Amino acid sequence: MTTNRDDFFRFVAQTSPEPMAIEVARAQGCVIIDKSGKEYLDFLSGIGVASLGHTHPAVVQAVQAQAERYLHAMVYGEYIQEPQVHLARRLAEVTPDPLSVTYFTNSGTEAVEGALKTARKYTGRARFVSFVGSFHGDTFGSLSVGGNPLYRTPFEPLLPTVTFLPFNDEATLQRIDETVAAVIIEPIQGEGGVRIPDPGFLPALRQRCREVGALLIFDEVITGFGRTGKLFACEHWQVTPDILVLAKALGGGMPLGAFMSTPEIMATLSHSPALAHVTTFGGHPVCCAAGLASLNFMLETHVPQQAHAQGSVLLARLQELIGTGGFVTARGRGLLIGMDFTTPEATKQFVQSCFASGLILGWTLHQDTVVRLAPPLIITTADIERAVTIMRHALHHT
Ligand SMILES: Cc1ncc(COP(=O)(O)O)c(C=O)c1O
Repeated sequence: MTTNRDDFFRFVAQTSPEPMAIEVARAQGCVIIDKSGKEYLDFLSGIGVASLGHTHPAVVQAVQAQAERYLHAMVYGEYIQEPQVHLARRLAEVTPDPLSVTYFTNSGTEAVEGALKTARKYTGRARFVSFVGSFHGDTFGSLSVGGNPLYRTPFEPLLPTVTFLPFNDEATLQRIDETVAAVIIEPIQGEGGVRIPDPGFLPALRQRCREVGALLIFDEVITGFGRTGKLFACEHWQVTPDILVLAKALGGGMPLGAFMSTPEIMATLSHSPALAHVTTFGGHPVCCAAGLASLNFMLETHVPQQAHAQGSVLLARLQELIGTGGFVTARGRGLLIGMDFTTPEATKQFVQSCFASGLILGWTLHQDTVVRLAPPLIITTADIERAVTIMRHALHHT
């Protein structure tokens, strides 16, 4: 008889030669438990998704209640589905003005596609500007604006009209001109190695986009929903984009993405022709019900503030470990933290050693010397101490 592990490698398409391959039995709060009963403390949250922890009771209850009412009733945009309407209204309340209209999708990359298409059609311009080190997803449009040639090259030709500027370099923003439909940026680069821009960069970018009539798209797929200590990272700089892209934690653990903008900009996809951009499952009622429960719980219990406070605790504890095992610096906002290592080998060894001791970590897609920490935002100080003890042990034994 074959095991699930055998069948996973045989029948499930693989994305890397070395998957973590935990056989998940249950996941609850900050912990994943495998089939053997081993507990893992999850400092990745399924890559930034489980911000309220795994299987949060408020989310599970909302999923169950909605599943009993109706599942898929119609493609996106045709019927009035209460969970969708309520979530869109709540998002309009909690995002900066004038963002007020939401288009729901299934994933982050699909939301990026929608944002890029909206910008092209709204401005009538062809070009996009993105940043070196950025990550926006793996479909063709999103990949075209992804800032690492390693992942673009095998799939070329991609969109030919993309210019990449260095992240956090105000001097180069003059290269954004009247031919640009949109500039897309993560306010804090996630896969690029948790890169936080200087205070003036995003305001300067906002100003330049306004000058030349290019739309500014903020991809807050990873930074959204309290991760950086504010509900949205754009609040750190008080910069409001023209289009805001959301996913990951939006669905509370269910697959859901969205892009939001003004009523005027969001009208673009509904005419000339009508049905210019459609999706069957986007905004699935069960996912929207989960998203609403998650967002409400987050706001009622001040989760972004908790992320800010616990992020400071974690960062301070990490600073104490600098200088051991090839670990050289740490930086972060809230509970999105990057640890820099001297070499890819030291990084990998650290991650693997922590994993063996029951702590889930990962390096970033574009920086193999950066370990990104993104634990659930409800993490306790005791969990932080547990993780730091494992990390200290790993660093002292590498
Ligand atoms: C900043 C950012 N944008 C977009 C995406 C793509 O999201 P998805 O995997 O849901 O398509 C990701 C995924 O990691 C991301 O980190």
